[in-house]
Amino acid sequence: MKKSKIKEILQALFDAPLSSRNLLVDRKEEINFLNTICSFQPLGVYGVCGETGVGKTTLLNFLDPGEGKRIYLKLTEKENKEVIIGDMLYKLAKEVEKYEKPELSKIAKESIEFVIEERNITNSVGAGGGVIVSGNFSKSTTRIKKFNIYQAYDLLDSILNLLLKKYKRIVLIIDELDKEKKEEVLMILDSLKSIFDKNNLVVILSLPFAIYREYTKDRLRWNESGNLENILKDVLFLEPLSDRQIQEMIMKRLEKYPDFFDSDTLYEIAKYSDGNPRDALWISQQIVLDNLDLERITGKSATETLKKITKKYFESSLDLTEIQEKVLNVIAKYSGSRNELVKKLEKEGIKRQTAYTYINRLKENGLILERNGKLKVSGKILYIISN
Ligand SMILES: Nc1ncnc2c1ncn2[C@@H]1O[C@H](COP(=O)(O)OP(=O)(O)OP(=O)(O)O)[C@@H](O)[C@H]1O
Ligand SMILES: [Mg+2]
Repeated sequence: MKKSKIKEILQALFDAPLSSRNLLVDRKEEINFLNTICSFQPLGVYGVCGETGVGKTTLLNFLDPGEGKRIYLKLTEKENKEVIIGDMLYKLAKEVEKYEKPELSKIAKESIEFVIEERNITNSVGAGGGVIVSGNFSKSTTRIKKFNIYQAYDLLDSILNLLLKKYKRIVLIIDELDKEKKEEVLMILDSLKSIFDKNNLVVILSLPFAIYREYTKDRLRWNESGNLENILKDVLFLEPLSDRQIQEMIMKRLEKYPDFFDSDTLYEIAKYSDGNPRDALWISQQIVLDNLDLERITGKSATETLKKITKKYFESSLDLTEIQEKVLNVIAKYSGSRNELVKKLEKEGIKRQTAYTYINRLKENGLILERNGKLKVSGKILYIISN
């Protein structure tokens, strides 16, 4: 392949959230659902859950309140609740600073300085090894310096109030909260509940999957201080794409080279990805890189790459027992409901209870997945067990 073609193809398959519709596959329903909330709900905090790489940021990029202001914050600082709330305040202030409204600029500046200063002090205290420092205002008192969370709340509250006054309606999108631990996120949401409780403020967050599970069970009793439905008005679960949609995504991206991957290659990519667009893009790039001498990639070459890559990346961390392998092989052959698979396994001489236990464990470990009520072997594992 010519160097320029390699470059173009890798660029086309590069993994980054989308913000224009030309490469977007489906998600119409989800976008409409959230946009209805953004435009019409009086207020509230709403969640978007889904596995990593399924398209949460992409979805959030298409949200729009209609009237008012859309504000997108991408959190990056982790560690603990104080740091995350500080980061939220900092990112909001940085955004608001750009609006060039004097009142907002003033409080934005104040907030930015506050976060920088607080983090400096808190960090240097931590780095010194102890948490107790002498205040220089009095030689006789010592105090414990912690991030001043109450001031952070006050600043957040004031910025949001001012924003609402200026723009009437605010859709605040907070991305990357899904990378935090469930307990931490719940603590954060609980502590921000009263600050977010403002007319015409709609908050949309990306949340860890574990929260969706709890939410749907609708039973969370967290530290007796409230339950999840009290914090979140609704949670949307972003399903993986179908195999056909994965293929469509790759074809859209390779519009300029429509024949570069043959249909068998597209099939293998979809199979590997299990509906996860990021996995599909990643493996597509790997297939290109592994076949630089080919002008066109066929299913045969793609499968060779897939076997090689899965072996390289996953085999060493996968130590399957004989019986696990047997169970996986049966499920690879017949995907179906749990009960159907247990029957198949019984025919293969595995006891009923053992079959249930194995299926559950393999599912917990992500080696088998559930899609539309049917269990199947994860695409990554398929290529290893067929090696
Ligand atoms: N509906 C879609 N149509 C086409 N491409 C998509 C779609 N959804 C996601 N993608 C692509 O998949 C990749 C992952 O998407 P995105 O970054 O939005 O996922 P995410 O869920 O936010 O991931 P993370 O958990 O890392 O934040 C991106 O390259 C994006 O372009
Ligand atoms: Mg994201």
